[in-house]
Amino acid sequence: MILQIVAVTAGLGLIIAGLGLALLRVLRRRSIGVMLAVVAVVTVTATLAGVVAITLEMVIDGRPKNIVLTVVAIGGLVGLGVALVNARRVVLASRRVVEALEKVSPSGRFSPPEGPLPAELQTISTALEQAYERLRLGRERERALESARRELVAWVSHDLRTPLAGMRAMAEALEDGVAGDPDTVKRYHTQIRLEVDRLSGMVDDLFELSRIHAGSLRLSRGRVGLGDLLADALAGVEPLARAKRVHLSGEADAAVPVNADAGELGRAVRNLVVNAIRHTPADGTVSVRAVADGGMASLSVLDCCGGIPEDDLPRVFDVAFRGEAARTPGPDGGAGLGLAIARGIVEAHEGEIGVVNEGPGCRFEIRLPLSP
Ligand SMILES: Nc1ncnc2c1ncn2[C@@H]1O[C@H](COP(=O)(O)OP(=O)(O)OP(=O)(O)O)[C@@H](O)[C@H]1O
Ligand SMILES: [Mg+2]
Repeated sequence: MILQIVAVTAGLGLIIAGLGLALLRVLRRRSIGVMLAVVAVVTVTATLAGVVAITLEMVIDGRPKNIVLTVVAIGGLVGLGVALVNARRVVLASRRVVEALEKVSPSGRFSPPEGPLPAELQTISTALEQAYERLRLGRERERALESARRELVAWVSHDLRTPLAGMRAMAEALEDGVAGDPDTVKRYHTQIRLEVDRLSGMVDDLFELSRIHAGSLRLSRGRVGLGDLLADALAGVEPLARAKRVHLSGEADAAVPVNADAGELGRAVRNLVVNAIRHTPADGTVSVRAVADGGMASLSVLDCCGGIPEDDLPRVFDVAFRGEAARTPGPDGGAGLGLAIARGIVEAHEGEIGVVNEGPGCRFEIRLPLSP
């Protein structure tokens, strides 16, 4: 008897479940609300079918049969009602998420819909919020880079035009014989050579920077002692320091090995030291130190520049940043590329570069992983 009941209800249940699953497959692109309704209908139909089959066949007769059927039918209707209400809530919640999404302006923030959401929709909404935030930051960065690039082109062309105009005037004067006396001729020649040196330096810097930005800076790395690198850099800038009457002091730990491209890293160090000399008044001191510190190699350059304005500190490494508002290049004024190049080179070595105001001036520091 019991076995028969189980067999009949299970058989009917399986058939209806199969039909329900097939229907859900057909409807798999429809709203979650429709699917929930199908699930409710399947549950109710399976229960009803089992009960009906058994009451009709064998178990109950007469009034009790009607009572059982009515109870099951009402139970089923209540279940269906709750399923439909719930389905509607889910549909409304998802519509709220879509509406919030439609409200976002192309560059704006996604603000999640107000009120509680079902867990999955809440997850989607949080993920959307984060994705939009990342998108916004990326777009902002791109815009900043784009405007820096535009500025660089404008400034560089200005910086190229001024010395070129000067050289043209001098060359014309020499050509026409207007500059007659030997002193002037000599002065013009020297001046032209200096300008050519400066312009080639600038073109060289631009080339280096473009390689850094294009990611095509090829490092040929080897084990390099930071102390030796420092000594080479100091030897190279000695004449400049002497001309400016700036005292240079170098200090290095016995062995500070790093895995680096000596040429490129030397260039970064030289940029820092040249800056320090340029911004230190006569009789001031520039001290350079190379030490191993907490598992890192540290190279720092301390000058007597009197401090960089706090507002400028985060910007000194930007391309074409030169500090002063009036951008008329002085006799030894640069293009504002040196620190951007230094940062690019140091970052290509998985290192960090930074600056703080300290003592009589500021301290630029390069930190690199020590070579094992
Ligand atoms: N040691 C320093 N002391 C004070 N200010 C500095 C120092 N180094 C850099 N700065 C400031 O940061 C700016 C940017 O330096 P950066 O080396 O990038 O360019 P630059 O020296 O002006 O030109 P370039 O290096 O291309 O010849 C400088 O113009 C200066 O205002
Ligand atoms: Mg510089």
